[in-house]
Amino acid sequence: MAWIVEDRLKPYSPTRSEPYLSPAIRRQVEEKYFPRYPNKRAALLPLFHIIMHEYGYIAPQAIDEAAEFLGLARAQVQDAVSFYEEFRLQPGGTCVINVCRSISCELLGYHAVLEKIRQTFGIDPGETTADHKITVLEVECLGACEQAPCALVNEELHGCLQPEEFVRRLQELSR
Ligand code: FES
Repeated sequence: MAWIVEDRLKPYSPTRSEPYLSPAIRRQVEEKYFPRYPNKRAALLPLFHIIMHEYGYIAPQAIDEAAEFLGLARAQVQDAVSFYEEFRLQPGGTCVINVCRSISCELLGYHAVLEKIRQTFGIDPGETTADHKITVLEVECLGACEQAPCALVNEELHGCLQPEEFVRRLQELSR
């Protein structure tokens, strides 16, 4: 059996002259997270969250900048970022819908929610509509099981979803 090897050190051209890790982001990590942990490496996940919040995804250039900032190899940062589903490596649509697929939501209708999204917008989990307005993803428990089935739309929780009504709200939000 042949192994398919991904070249994680492949060079790329920076996409923008302005750094993703702005002075404000660096200062936030230095002041808030470095003092909490025994080494800089431990601030990697908080830094990813800040980048996601700021840009909506983690660009290759941001991975390089994070490696330099935290004194890590690029491959170490790439391995960490690709391990967690909530860190996207590609820009998403205007509306990023994270539909919970864990047990409570699965029992209470997550399949129907995804099916309605598929019928209405023509996308499956991991896909974005051609107009870049909607991206749908599946995620694990959002910690709101009492509101199952639920989804995060951008950073807002939507619970007790009724598929028909939910896609109507998505259509309004993505206008
Ligand atoms: S199982 Fe969906 S929020 Fe917990």
